Formats: sequence, C-alpha cells, structure tokens
Amino acid sequence: MTQIDFLDEVVLGDCLALFPKVPDNSIRTIHTSPPYNIEKDYEGYNDNLGTRDYLDFIERVLSECKRVLVPGGALFWQTGYTTEEEYITPLDHLTFNLFQKLGFRLKDRIIWRYWGGMAFKAKFTNKHETILWWVKPGRNNTKSKFDVFSVREATKFYDSRNNLFGRNPGNVWEVDRVAFGSNDQTSHIAVFPEEISDRIVLSTTDENEVVLDPFSGSGTLCKVAKARARHFIGFEISPHYHQESVQRLALQARGELLSVLSEILKEHVFCAVGTKKFSAIENKVMNLLSPFSLKPYENTFTKPYLDALCAGHKDVVKKSDKVKLWNDLEALLPPFGANNNGKDPVGLISLIDRAYMRAFKLYKVYSSAMRFHCAVKWLSTLQTTLTQSRKEGWKKILTSLTESETGTYCLTKDGITLMTRRKKFKVDAAEVSSLENSKDKLTTPQLFR
Ligand SMILES: C[S@@+](CC[C@H](N)C(=O)[O-])C[C@H]1O[C@@H](n2cnc3c(N)ncnc32)[C@H](O)[C@@H]1O
Repeated sequence: MTQIDFLDEVVLGDCLALFPKVPDNSIRTIHTSPPYNIEKDYEGYNDNLGTRDYLDFIERVLSECKRVLVPGGALFWQTGYTTEEEYITPLDHLTFNLFQKLGFRLKDRIIWRYWGGMAFKAKFTNKHETILWWVKPGRNNTKSKFDVFSVREATKFYDSRNNLFGRNPGNVWEVDRVAFGSNDQTSHIAVFPEEISDRIVLSTTDENEVVLDPFSGSGTLCKVAKARARHFIGFEISPHYHQESVQRLALQARGELLSVLSEILKEHVFCAVGTKKFSAIENKVMNLLSPFSLKPYENTFTKPYLDALCAGHKDVVKKSDKVKLWNDLEALLPPFGANNNGKDPVGLISLIDRAYMRAFKLYKVYSSAMRFHCAVKWLSTLQTTLTQSRKEGWKKILTSLTESETGTYCLTKDGITLMTRRKKFKVDAAEVSSLENSKDKLTTPQLFR
C-alpha cells in the first residue's frame, strides 16, 4: 500500500491544507458531508460564504477528492439544501456542474429518508437528504466496486423467488436520525447515523483498503471503518469535534472479530469495571462457547441447508423449501423487537447474534438467514483463533483488543482491565477544554474513567 502519513487517524486542521499529504490514487472510498453554508455555528469555520466563494471552496475540495481516489474509487457526497426565506436550493443541484466539470461520473442518487428532525410550520417537514454516488473513471472502463452481499436486508414478505439472505436495500435508505440522548449522540449537530456509513463501507471497499472523510465531524465514517477493519483518514477543523472523535474511536475495537469479542466480554465476563486474569477470561469464554459444534442445529435445518447458511450460499436451497427455512430461522432468531426470545436449541448462535447486534447497528435490518450466517462465521473464527496454541492465542487476542480499544481496556501483567462500561461518548465542553489546556496530552482513560 502507498505510504500515508496519518493512516487510521482523525487529523485536526483544514482539509485543504491536509489533502496535499495524501498520495494520488490511494483512497478507495470517500463518504462525506460538507458544510452546507447555512450559517451553522461551526467552530473555526465560516458557514456563511457568498455563493461564489462557497462554490470555489467546494471545487477545490472535489478536485483533491478526485486526485486521491483510486481509478474506479467512489465519492459519496451527502447533502441537504440551503434556504433563502421560504425557498430552497438543493446543494446537489447547486454543485452538480462542478462534479461533471472535474470528470466524475454519477453512479447513483441515494435518498436518505429519515425519522425525526424538526417539524416545519409553513410547509411539509423535511425528511430526506441526498447522497450522490460519484465515481472517478479510470482507463479501460475500470469498474467501480459494489458487493451487495453484506448489505442485504430482510424482505418484508417471504417469496420463494427471493434471495435467501435478503434483498438489495435499494437507493432509498430509511434510517433514524441520531436521537438526542442516544448513545450515539455527540456534541455535533449533524452526525451521520452509523448505518449509512456502514452500508457504504461494506458495499464499496474490501478489508484494509483506505476510506476518507475530509469533513469528519464526530468521526462516524472513521469509527465504522475501524469496526470493519478498513483503514481510515478523517480531517476536522474544529478542535472540539476532533477531540470527541478521538475519544469515540478509542471506544471502538478494530475489526469484526475483536468488536464481537469485546461485546461478549462486556456482557458476560466483566460485570463491573475491574481487572481479570487471562486464565479467568479464557475459562469463562470457553465455557460460554462450548459446545463448539453446530451438530445440534441439524435437528432444525437439514445438513445441506445448514451448510448453505454457514457458507453464505443461496443456490443449494430448493425454492419449495425456502419459506419453511425462513420460518424455522425466525423461530430460532426472531426479528428484533419481537416478543418471543427465540428457540435456539444450543444458545450459541443467539449469544454471538446479540453481541453482533450491539457491535453493528446495520445488523438490525439483516434477515435471520444473514444473522445466522454472520454468527456462525464469527463463532468459527473465534473458535479457531482461541484454540490455536491456547495460551498464546488468548494472550495475543486480548492484547490486540487492549491495543485497539484503548478507551475501554488496558493491559496488565497477567490480564486486562476494563476501565469503563461507558458507551456514550458525548464529551463535556469544559472537560475537553480543560484537558486541551493541560500540559498532559489528552488520553482516553482520563476522560472515560
Ligand atoms: C456536516 S458536518 C459533518 C458531520 C459528520 N458526517 C458526522 O457524522 O459527524 C461538516 C464538518 O466539517 C467541518 N469542517 C468545515 N470546514 C472544514 C475544513 N475546511 N476542513 C475540515 N473540516 C471542516 C465542520 O467543523 C463540521 O464538523
């Protein structure tokens, strides 16, 4: 991979000053939401430029985005509109020509249809934003990436013609805004819901590729990228939002395996903040995860169908058996919010399923077939990783967890300490400025203890 100075960091500063440090053709996907020029009260930035100045600024940013993207790379440009009295100018209209002038090609126009937001009095309340999916064309018609499997969502009605794992989510995404008081709320006024960035990251990038958000805000894209084992870069001009994203990233493990394991530890191993020895953690988790066999599930699903679910193959399931299979899966893993708890004969799949759900918000829209597939995938990866040279495996994996989720865990001589069960990362302004002014560098444990 090309050497990048600040990989896996949110960097404080003006994106136009920082962009030159990013090499040409090094970024697979950009997902960003620029300032809307609607007089928002951003720190360190004037959100009330004249139209000409605003367009000049956006053009300079777009030209840098184009330079750093790999050929075939994707730019997801998320915007709303500006207003003048009661009239609106959608920002994707205002800036459309700039993208075309720079040679981007439009691949799709996604509507984020949201719940929540302020009610209007004089017209219909706004309930959507647009996300334009632009592609940097390459030579010989380089294709842009799109992998739909991991972003399939549950269908509303079962039909034997449908894909076993769910449907393509389409280009109207219904996702709640980040509600006040929720764990995801930050001080930021315009936080992306994680589900949106997650869908973009999963469908257009592979593990270890690099994603970028030049207007990173509270660091949503970076957090999601870390959780999915992608590399990331964020630029943010406001010191407060920058600090808050550093804290937020410290509460996120890198990659799916560690994220799922972290949730299992928080729920089943550490009842409270404190220290546990490697051996105690090993015994507890081994007890939880045994029996490691999927054999008991063969009473629920016949062997070929169990294999199909585990491997993520849809084609071996006969059309005539599909609806029954779906019903069986829902009996085992009912949809979120259902009253019954499911009838998992062993409980292993449900255990990983719950941890997965706490780790990844997009998981809420997955079908039960997809959830079964994900749970088995991580069950077997955990199993292999943890049983490979047992002692070394545990020490190694728990050390990696403390190194990646530095705000939650730290390493001791013969174990690990859980420093906080805190999930909320909204940081008090006074707390941030006192730490910024103090001589000590801001460290996560200080804020989150
Ligand atoms: C619409 S918000 C992005 C919110 C973000 N998507 C999230 O999930 O929190 C735009 C962000 O761009 C930042 N910003 C404005 N001008 C900037 C610049 N020149 N360089 C870097 N960041 C800038 C603002 O401080 C603000 O946090």
